[in-house]
Amino acid sequence: DPTLVSDLQATLRDVPDFPKPGIVFKDITPMLADPRLFGRVVTAMSAPFRGKHITKVVGVESRGFILGAPIALALEAGFVPARKPGKLPHRSIVERYSLEYGADGVEMHEDAILKDERVLVVDDVLATGGTAEATARLISRLGGDIVGFSFLITLDFLAGAKRLGPDKVTSVLSF
Ligand code: PRP
Ligand code: MG
Repeated sequence: DPTLVSDLQATLRDVPDFPKPGIVFKDITPMLADPRLFGRVVTAMSAPFRGKHITKVVGVESRGFILGAPIALALEAGFVPARKPGKLPHRSIVERYSLEYGADGVEMHEDAILKDERVLVVDDVLATGGTAEATARLISRLGGDIVGFSFLITLDFLAGAKRLGPDKVTSVLSF
C-alpha cells in the first residue's frame, strides 16, 4: 500500500498542547471515520504478524481497543482488553507505569492469556513505552509469549522501542 503513509499524514490531526502544554496529540479520529483508510490501517498493522500463529491480540485501553479488535479478527486471534485499573469485573492483575503526561496502570484478567499463548500487543501510539512495557509485564506474568508490538505511530525521539526490544516493534508511521 504505497500511498498509505502519505494518506495518513494528510488525514491524522496534530493537536498542540493537548492534553497538556507541550504535548502534540495525534488525533486518529479522522482516520477512523474513513472506512477505506481504517481498513487499510488494519491490513497494514496486521501484515507483519500474518502466519506468525498469534492466538491473542491485546489492545490497550482506550485507543488500542479500536485498532486491536479488528486486527484480532484479521489474524483470526482472540481479543484481550488491557484496561485502566478498576474496570475489569473478574480477578485481575495490575502493573503500574509512568506516562509522558502523568502516571497510570493497566490491568488484565488473570485468565485472559494462557501459558505459552502467542501474543501481539496493539496500540495507536508508542511514546515513552511505559504503557506497552507494563502491558508486556502483565502478559509475561501470565506465561504468554510476546511475539511483537504493532503500533500505528511510533514517536522515535522518545525511544520507547528500546524498552520493548526494537526487533519486536512494528509501526506504520514514525516521527
Ligand atoms: C496514549 C496512547 C498510548 C500511550 C503511549 O494513551 O494511546 O496508549 O499513551 O504512551 P507511552 O508510550 O508513553 O506509555 P493514553 O494513556 O493517553 O490513553 P487513551 O488511549 O485512553 O487516550
Ligand atoms: Mg492509549
